Amino acid sequence: MELLRNQRAKPSSSSSRFGLLGLLAVFIFGFLASFSAAEVHYHEFVIEAKPVKRLCRTHSTITVNGLFPGPTLEVRNGDTLVIKAINRAQYNISLHWHGVRQLRNPWADGPEYVTQCPIQPGATYTYRYTIQNQEGTLWWHAHSRWLRATVYGALIIRPKMGSPYPFPTPKREFPIILGEWWDRNPQDVRKLALYTGAAPNSSDAYTINGQPGDLYRCSNKETMKFQVNSGETILLRVINAAMNQELFFAVANHKLIVVEADASYTKPFTTSVIMVGPGQTTNVLLTADQTPGRYYMAARAYQTAQNAAFDNTTTTAILEYKNGKQKSFLSAPVLPQLPAFNDTNTARAFISQVKGLKSKGKVPTKIDKSLFFTVGLGLINCTNPNSPRCQGPNGTRFTASINNISFVFPRRNSLMQAYLQGQQGVFTTDFPSSPLVKFDYTGNVSRGLWQPVHGTKLVKLKYGANVQIVLQDTSIVTTEEHPMHIHGYNFYVVGMGTGNFNPAKDPANFNLIDPPHRNTIGTPPGGWVAVRFVADNPGIWLLHCHIDSHLTWGLATALLVENGVGTLQSVQSPPLDLPRC
Ligand code: C2O
Repeated sequence: MELLRNQRAKPSSSSSRFGLLGLLAVFIFGFLASFSAAEVHYHEFVIEAKPVKRLCRTHSTITVNGLFPGPTLEVRNGDTLVIKAINRAQYNISLHWHGVRQLRNPWADGPEYVTQCPIQPGATYTYRYTIQNQEGTLWWHAHSRWLRATVYGALIIRPKMGSPYPFPTPKREFPIILGEWWDRNPQDVRKLALYTGAAPNSSDAYTINGQPGDLYRCSNKETMKFQVNSGETILLRVINAAMNQELFFAVANHKLIVVEADASYTKPFTTSVIMVGPGQTTNVLLTADQTPGRYYMAARAYQTAQNAAFDNTTTTAILEYKNGKQKSFLSAPVLPQLPAFNDTNTARAFISQVKGLKSKGKVPTKIDKSLFFTVGLGLINCTNPNSPRCQGPNGTRFTASINNISFVFPRRNSLMQAYLQGQQGVFTTDFPSSPLVKFDYTGNVSRGLWQPVHGTKLVKLKYGANVQIVLQDTSIVTTEEHPMHIHGYNFYVVGMGTGNFNPAKDPANFNLIDPPHRNTIGTPPGGWVAVRFVADNPGIWLLHCHIDSHLTWGLATALLVENGVGTLQSVQSPPLDLPRC
């Protein structure tokens, strides 16, 4: 079965077929724009295994509605989504709407054993949520084991009817979903790594909208093509849905203008290459101002961990001018210049240019709760280093932690359900505000500090508190960029730097004027990043590294934001169909 081009999800509520009446309706609708009610979009997401052929081989792949990538959700700011997830796969699963704030509504957030128990095979659960004051590109993905390797799709949020983009409306737009493909079952890759204690096998390909592209075996017929007219400006909604890899992305001969990241507008700036960490999205404008023809867009690894194997292949798609001359179509498209795999200078220069368009006056200045989190890998010593279960460096097992605590997900209940029911023994709220042992985090760390403890410890926050978190990479095992994601929140990225954070000096250089407002930000390798937000969303929210192998090893904790005063500052009651464990 040859399947699975990226397709638009069909809303069953709103009609999209326009006749004359439709046009009239649009006219009236436009006229009444400011009064127009938000829409409700109903979807069914059937999660099931389908044969998908990539790199010459067919795998039984977990998909949504038989599509890989899954359906694109297209909504407007203010709209409501009602998505009935029907699990016809053989795995427990849950779905996460990455970056959606889910105000007072953790029940729709999705991470398994955090805000819900997973949907069991044969069961269903309906996610209901409203987009509130968010515009741009987000995405959705499975949040159970490694199912997100193939269960993901774009979530496009356009401005409310009648309200413009803060840039000229692009002539057309395309989601560019970067993914990672294994020539085997990704669940087996995870299982094997958890058994041996070694790093999981690298992927065999990167993909653009599910397709590896011309540089891989058996792939060129399916290479994604994006058509433009000469002179047009188009919007590319770039999403990094890869499991374990930061990626560079560029389009041959074309400049990119960054206008939005993580569904928050940015001050426009021009660049020839972007770096996107797992979980992040970046919207760029591209003007088709080159000789009509065909140009490759390409993505490949930005790799920061030392002495680690990684997938060094390149995925491509083709930007094709519709009015291109036949001759230029016969020669192979040109490839863009991508930075070297370890080009941290380019990555940092890019990331530090991203500034918020609407941050002014919104960044918390007085901090009520200041947290300092060390993030990084670790190694578990084995009594028998020759054991098949100790195949990590020098007969150890890989692990990862925040403040030396490797997060353990509960298995009997979700954190939210345990919290609501007052069930004891599932979690504690004594996560340390800073590491219990201070050391030179990015220096030569003594081996005695490489092995974390395990625990399900949460950070308790008062409703409305102004929170600052400094995320400090460590050099334990290796320094590395960790794309840190907080569920249920966007945060202002007020500062970053290399080496150890200096609380006496560094805050003086914080950007409180136009920092970007993001949901995922990478620690500079061997450095730190500082974020601020107001704890205005009650519930339990996972905070984790979006490199899935690190999450698997425990690079996570959760924020427990208490209810404020009255129902409007409190978590909604759970839906009746919330899955039970
Ligand atoms: Cu995009 Cu916890 O995830």
